[in-house]
Formats: sequence, structure tokens, C-alpha cells
Amino acid sequence: MKIGVVGLGYVGVPLAVAFCEAGHTVIGVDADRSKIEALARGESYIEDIPDARLREALPRFQPTARYAELSQADAVIIAVPTPLTPNREPDLGPLTASATALATVLQRGQLVVLESTTYPGYTRERLVPLLEESGLAAGSDFNVAFSPERVDPGRKDYTLRTTAKVVGGSTPACLERAVALYGEVCDHVVPVSTTDAAELTKLLENIFRSVNIALVNEIAILCDRMGIDVWEVVNAASTKPYGFMRFEPGPGMGGHCLPVDPFYLSWRAREFDVQTEFIELAGEVNARMPHFCVEKIARGLNDHSKPVRGSRVALLGVSYKAGIADLREAPALKIIRLLAEQGASIAYHDEYVPELSEFGLSSQPLDDVLDHCDVAVIVTVHPGLDIERILDRAPLVVDFRGATAGMTAGKLIRL
Ligand SMILES: NC(=O)c1ccc[n+]([C@@H]2O[C@H](COP(=O)([O-])OP(=O)(O)OC[C@H]3O[C@@H](n4cnc5c(N)ncnc54)[C@H](O)[C@@H]3O)[C@@H](O)[C@H]2O)c1
Repeated sequence: MKIGVVGLGYVGVPLAVAFCEAGHTVIGVDADRSKIEALARGESYIEDIPDARLREALPRFQPTARYAELSQADAVIIAVPTPLTPNREPDLGPLTASATALATVLQRGQLVVLESTTYPGYTRERLVPLLEESGLAAGSDFNVAFSPERVDPGRKDYTLRTTAKVVGGSTPACLERAVALYGEVCDHVVPVSTTDAAELTKLLENIFRSVNIALVNEIAILCDRMGIDVWEVVNAASTKPYGFMRFEPGPGMGGHCLPVDPFYLSWRAREFDVQTEFIELAGEVNARMPHFCVEKIARGLNDHSKPVRGSRVALLGVSYKAGIADLREAPALKIIRLLAEQGASIAYHDEYVPELSEFGLSSQPLDDVLDHCDVAVIVTVHPGLDIERILDRAPLVVDFRGATAGMTAGKLIRL
């Protein structure tokens, strides 16, 4: 088959490579020419796809900025971003732009699958009419489906192939084609009855995480007041073999998904006169965490007779999660902003993030930041971060990730 993939980011690149590895040809379209050029040179900007794997796929992978190439595809998968506007409402701009452009080249007999996370009803009410601008009719002239992406950047134990893939079609025939398409790259495809059900499945999964992270974050704040070690409690509760699922507290939720997707549903729910209170509350609790973390750093400095103003704070790890460079919604950025507002002087070490251009900062060697700080703050624990070294060299250590769980030292403060 010839497969089109629109949007070559964290979702699109692994998908394109997987279809190439399954023996298909992939036309990858992206609006960002620098990404097209990097991919064409065999340089991957997605951590989960090493250059060598991309290069092996390249003979069958054609990255391009031209939608016209998609007219030759049997199926086109859309994986463009679905962010929020500054007012925290769905920003459907990239989706509309990609669907409008695709409609100009859409061919009879093609299958279009949306993978971008969106609210229930989007595919049926918005995507289909945009594609029908082509003059072709969905269901009879071309097929439409929605299949949520479950990629978890940095994860090694589950891959695209071994993670079950949910698919909903506009019609039974659309579903059948989409199930066959994903059967090429996934061992287990889970059909659901409608595109709406597939869209809501993705949101339920992400809201489940957001709510549970908020719950454990709230417990962490309470533990701080009560003088109980939250990590000890989480570890102990995790020994229950049923009825409990481990979630860890932290400096706040980051990434493209968890801080964003739940609000697609709360926005949509308002049209149905429903208030999604769990979603809003979880969002509030998680958004409060960077503020709580800054308070905790300030208290730690105060106990060492130092004000925040003028203190040198070294952040260790600034991307939103371990093992990847993604800075979207990273809590470290909020922590830096809040500390800078209070007059702290900031340095950071992160082997995955060489520059933080928004703050005019660049990553410093670990020993340099440890030797020239008043407090070292563990925000994201990338593989290989030397915790012993941090405890050894920094005058004060604040750990928001439980990386020092079980360790004790007078200069150590933990979430
Ligand atoms: N990153 C994840 O872990 C993850 C997991 C599951 C689902 N998702 C969802 O998948 C979708 C894509 O996320 P992502 O993380 O891959 O985003 P991304 O920003 O990494 O990649 C999206 C790509 O789309 C391109 N693009 C934007 N507008 C375009 C247009 N009009 N035409 C062509 N290309 C265009 C961008 O240049 C970018 O390269 C989102 O809806 C997201 O919520 C992401």
C-alpha cells in the first residue's frame, strides 16, 4: 500500500516508519520544511526513532511539504497538533488547515483516518464536511475513521505493534478498511461502533491519568503538612495486588496531552449542559503544583537562612518527562518563571535540552551547576542522572520526583 501521513511529529514519524518497516510506501507531509529536510537527510528529531532506523525506512519513506503527493495514497492518516487557545478552548486551526488541504487532492476510494486527539463528534461533524468540500461523499466515495494514538514517548516495553489500537469508522465499511490498515502495524486492533466512541476512548484514558495524578499530588501536599513521606505511602500502597494503581506525585503535568486533552471534553460537555467537575478540579490541582514546588524551594532556602532573591537555583532536568527533550507544558518552565520573578538566579542541567532560549539559558555540565548553586532541584530524572553525586556536591537538594526515596540527609528535602 501507499500510505500518507500528515503531521510528522511524535505520532506521525513512528507511524510512518512502522508502515515502511511493514513493507509499505509512505508519503509524509508536514508544514515545517526544516522537519522534512531533516527526515530526508536521515536525521530523526524523535527520540524513539534513532537515525539508523529512520535511514533503513527512507527508501520507502518520502517526506514532503506537498499535499498533492497524497493523491496517490491508498490511505491518509492525519496526526497534526490539537492544542488549546490562550483561553483554553480547542484550537482546531491545524486540523482544519490539514483537512482543507487534503480535500483539494482527495481521491475516490481513499481512506482517511484521523489520529489527532479531539472531542467526541469532531470527525463526524467537522472533518467529514471539510473532506466533502472535495465534491466526494464520505462513506460511498471515500472512507473515514478515527483511531486514537497511544504513543508514550520514551517507553520501551510497549510499542506501536504491541499496544492495542482502537478504531471507529463512519460506516461499517470504513471501520473494516481501517481495521485492515492498522492490522499491518499493530498486533491487536480494537474496533468500536462509532468515531465518537473512539474519540471519547482517548479522552477517557488521558482524563483517567490526569485525575489520578491530581489525587496523588493532593495527597503529597497533605503529606507535606502532616510530615509523612508521600513516597513511602505510594510505595506501600502499590504493594496491593488489586484495586490500586500506582500514580506518582510530581512538579506538575507536562506534555502535549495530559494538560490539554481533558479540556477538549469539558469544552464539548458544555454544549450538552454538563459540567465535567473531575476534569476541572484535576486541572486546578495539577496546575497548582509548580507553585507548591516553588514554595517548598523557598522554605528550604529559608531554613538555610537564604532568601530566594539572589539565591542560585540549579534545576536538574527541564523537559516534561524522563528520557525525552519535549518541553511542551513542562512544569520546569513555570518553576523557572516563578523563581525568576522572585529574584532567584537560575542555571540548569539537562542533557536532552541544550538551550532554553525563552530564558536565555543553556544547559551547564552537572558538576558546574552543583558546585555553583545554593540549592539543586531535581525536576526530571533523565536516565543516568547521578543522584549520589548530586547529594554529595550540592549544599541543599530538593527532590520533586522521589529519586532519593529511602535516602536521608540533613540537606535533602523531598516532595
Ligand atoms: N505526543 C504524544 O505523546 C501523543 C500521544 C497520543 C496522541 N497525541 C496526539 O497526536 C496529535 C499530534 O501530536 P504530536 O505530539 O505528534 O504533535 P507534534 O507537534 O510533535 O507533530 C505535529 C506535526 O504536525 C505538523 N503540522 C501542523 N500543522 C500542519 C498542517 N496543517 N499540515 C501538515 N503538517 C502540519 C507540525 O509541523 C508537526 O511536525 C495531537 O492531537 C496529540 O494530542 C500525541
